[in-house]
Amino acid sequence: MKSSKQIRNEFLEFFKGKGHEIVKSSPVIPQNDPTLLFTNAGMNQFKTIFLNLEKPKYKRVANAQKCIRVSGKHNDLEEVGKDTYHHTFFEMLGNWSFGDYYKREAIQWAWELVTEVWNLDKKRLWATVYKGDEEAERLWKEVTDISPERVLRFGEKDNFWEMGETGPCGPCSEIHYYIGDMPESQSAEKINSGDPEYIEIWNLVFIQYNRVEDGLLTPLPMKHIDTGAGLERIVAIIQGKKSNYDTDLFKPLIDAIEDITGVKYNEENGVSHRVISDHVRMLSFAIADGGLPSNEGRGYVIRRILRRAARFGRIIGMHQPFIYRLVDILADIMGDVYPEVRERTDHIKRVIKYEEELFNEALDRGLNLFTSIVEKTKSSGGKIINGEDVFKLYDTYGFPVDLTKLMAEEEGLTIDENGFNKMLEEQRERGRAYSSFQDKYDMKKIDWVYVSGVADSEFIGYENIECEAQIVRYHFSGDTAYLVLDKTPFYPESGGQVGDKGVIEGKGFIIEVNDTKKANDSIIHIGKLKQGERKIDDNKVIAKVNKELRDATKRNHTATHLLHRALIITLGEHVHQAGSLVEPERLRFDFTHYEKLTDEQIEKIEDIVNRIILENRKVIKTYKKFDEAKKDDVIALFGEKYDEIVRVVEVEGFSKELCGGTHVDYTGEVGYFKILSETSVAAGVRRIEAVTGMESVKVSRTYSKIIKSLEEKFGISHKELIKRVEKLIEENKALKKRGIGLINTDDLKIKEVDKQNLGELTVVSKYFYELDERMLMEIADKIREENRNCIGILGTIIDGKPKAVVTITDDVISKYKIKAGDIAKEIGSIMGGGGGGKSHIATAGGREPSLIHKALKKSIDIIREVLDKN
Ligand code: SER
Repeated sequence: MKSSKQIRNEFLEFFKGKGHEIVKSSPVIPQNDPTLLFTNAGMNQFKTIFLNLEKPKYKRVANAQKCIRVSGKHNDLEEVGKDTYHHTFFEMLGNWSFGDYYKREAIQWAWELVTEVWNLDKKRLWATVYKGDEEAERLWKEVTDISPERVLRFGEKDNFWEMGETGPCGPCSEIHYYIGDMPESQSAEKINSGDPEYIEIWNLVFIQYNRVEDGLLTPLPMKHIDTGAGLERIVAIIQGKKSNYDTDLFKPLIDAIEDITGVKYNEENGVSHRVISDHVRMLSFAIADGGLPSNEGRGYVIRRILRRAARFGRIIGMHQPFIYRLVDILADIMGDVYPEVRERTDHIKRVIKYEEELFNEALDRGLNLFTSIVEKTKSSGGKIINGEDVFKLYDTYGFPVDLTKLMAEEEGLTIDENGFNKMLEEQRERGRAYSSFQDKYDMKKIDWVYVSGVADSEFIGYENIECEAQIVRYHFSGDTAYLVLDKTPFYPESGGQVGDKGVIEGKGFIIEVNDTKKANDSIIHIGKLKQGERKIDDNKVIAKVNKELRDATKRNHTATHLLHRALIITLGEHVHQAGSLVEPERLRFDFTHYEKLTDEQIEKIEDIVNRIILENRKVIKTYKKFDEAKKDDVIALFGEKYDEIVRVVEVEGFSKELCGGTHVDYTGEVGYFKILSETSVAAGVRRIEAVTGMESVKVSRTYSKIIKSLEEKFGISHKELIKRVEKLIEENKALKKRGIGLINTDDLKIKEVDKQNLGELTVVSKYFYELDERMLMEIADKIREENRNCIGILGTIIDGKPKAVVTITDDVISKYKIKAGDIAKEIGSIMGGGGGGKSHIATAGGREPSLIHKALKKSIDIIREVLDKN
């Protein structure tokens, strides 16, 4: 039997023989393409070539590409596990021509490989073409020996391939294969009908258009070939299997699931085995290429897939994390071809195990809730689980909506997805403070006073911190002024960097700017009117940014880039920015990573950053076309929308990021970089806070002051401080232990002299030399446990203040209806303070230490008084 490795190689060798260069698979996490969550086709990495934005190095290439189809235009998730040939992760074998050969060769070679190298039965093969593509139809008949009746025409849905909502696209021609047992009964109607016996194995796309944002098709200057054949399906056919899960790509995983769970696999009842073996591939490759589970975007898709797998694990009895244990087996199957899964096995396992643990806890409770929701829905005769319940499962128990949907389907129900989306949107809305600012100060909504007709808000703050400008419009609300200028050096809050502060001075008025924000394309200065009237006659002003604050912010922004790069170097490529705040005082950087950083890692990161600062490297800012910048390995953030022209900030030879922020010119200006803290913000997201410039000088000074004052207090040098403090802690522990032991010793025992009688009551009143409150309470508890008809008043002095604890045995409480709190109140007032508490125990405190003795002496009187009052 041919192995999957051989089959993959045969494809690559075949196209090598036809003059193709074999290239590497690109990562499943697309590099710098914000339009894509995951690499979903072999052609992704060639998009810029198709769009004529990049010159190809080779005119013909071929490869095996790792693909993930779980979101966006190409999403196979719902089929996965239910059938035997859709996957979240799969390999696509592809050959490409960049303006070189076209339909003829693409068709001819595909047929040659399929029928002559792989020897597939021509009587089971079918070809489809786009209904208007007569050329392709003719070529099938001309350059192959396929029976003409096996070439079928289809419409746009099946035979016009598009990458996504936008991007390169064109008509396509597909090859399908009948895997059933009755070849003589084949029928053309079954093609593209969803019949599992007729499987699409190869798609030949004739790329000739670009779909642009408004949906229009624009012709490309050159015509290209983009083909993709699903390796798993071809392997199944060649290995004589009806299911992809029976091939050598999946079988070892299925076997391992059987071993771990003790549940045998068979095709009828094998959904869980299939889902888990499929999902572990998606998870491992996504994580190997830098993905991590999170609550947003790509990370949320990874989390969803993991949770889906975990829930299918639960169906076959798995309550403990186990999916991570399959990663070793996957690394054995795929590691030779894709070494990243082997090299990063430990990392992948750790991430998956952690997520499994996280979800397992919520899963049981969530499943209980789900069961009761189903019962509720069914008993009321409903067929739809309402949006609120779906949202609760999502929000409280982490059930991804597609998981709930799937579980509902298993119960013969559907879910109210619109209702769910509405609630989700409302939740997001609540978190969207910034955009409410946008709305509030939107030009159309605010009552602006327009003073000049010039265009507004040219930002000139990269080169200047001061300029002459004209007010375009303004608005006063109380003392607060909102100003929009024609041009401004003030940086508006964006990309994590806070807005500039400074002053705007005009004829007869001064406005102190406290913040600068962007609303749509306008820059709004927000400040206080310091001088003048709430009225502007002359619109000429001087706008001055506070230089000191701006410089400090610049230092922190450049330091953020240095930190980002140093984190990747130290921790690995999985580190991605998850949020940042750049202020004058400090910087805060959130990033994806699954565990606490060690002291050594933090030191290494500080050293890397400080070394680059000391080397005084140049910080170069350039403008580039987005597509060009992407080619340079620039860090771009997923989900950010970039303009066509982007600003690239490069620390020479060290880091490159797309960034609109303000930066120093040479790294030396940043000064000493010091990490203050490293903490967790969410599962898989860590936060670093750090300082630079004068702020790190201040921080170092504070630290040395603390050390100096400790040196003085202890009279020793700082080298001995830690030892001394450790010794003190030990001594303190020992003392405390002795203290507890002493409760039973003579000093702490209640003796006959401590007792007085009040009618049938025994009153214990005793002073203890310097006990802490906890111990006083313990003694009080003991009195209550060991006596009947008893009231105890125990006193001590803590930190120079009198303190008393009052306790009453239960029989006294029920008989006399007296409360310890009432007695404590009286004692407190004698001591110049107060008191209170519960019926059986209460405390009192005061100011003057000696008054505790006075209060104790008066115990009997006080109790009598309280009793009399009742
Ligand atoms: N891009 C096409 C597809 O993904 C052919 O490779 O099907």
